[in-house]
Amino acid sequence: MEILISEQDILAKVTELGQNISRDYDGKEVILICVLKGAVMFTVDLAKHINIPVKLDFMAVSSYGSGKVSSGVVKIIKDLDDSIEGKHVIIVEDIIDSGQTLNYLLSVLWGRKPASMKVCALLDKPDRRQANVNADYIGFTIPDEFIIGYGLDYDQLYRNLPYVAMLKED
Ligand code: IMP
Ligand code: MG
Repeated sequence: MEILISEQDILAKVTELGQNISRDYDGKEVILICVLKGAVMFTVDLAKHINIPVKLDFMAVSSYGSGKVSSGVVKIIKDLDDSIEGKHVIIVEDIIDSGQTLNYLLSVLWGRKPASMKVCALLDKPDRRQANVNADYIGFTIPDEFIIGYGLDYDQLYRNLPYVAMLKED
């Protein structure tokens, strides 16, 4: 594997995103919706750098099987614990690839009438987009490579790496 974004660069970017969110939501309370499992590392680090009142909730969806290609079918595996009606919510995603997961999440969650909803994604792969969706806060725009680490997996492995790396075929 080849390191694409170092631990230090990730943390610098997460700090910056946390500051931007704190500024944009000044005087408000925000619910961070962590999309399991990929966004776990990003969500906890981001939350530590937000200095307005924050609540955390978790949702699990599946769009990929065990391989590298999206099945295109999105399914809710675990729903939020609490209502988001009238709340300011930010969906926290590890990566926006085809955009199908986010597209589905946005349509489901808008139906629950939040006061506002934005998307914060650590990584964006715009070359691969199929659905017309974008994040409001983006950490890094990356080329069309399959990547792992800092929450992102290949077959459930490598999520624990503190950096983001490219997985090379062998
Ligand atoms: P999308 O629905 O195609 O946008 O894919 C979203 C989800 O697919 C992400 O939240 C990731 O969990 C997973 N994913 C997309 N690209 C990658 C990658 O390069 N490495 C690991 N997981 C990925
Ligand atoms: Mg995944």
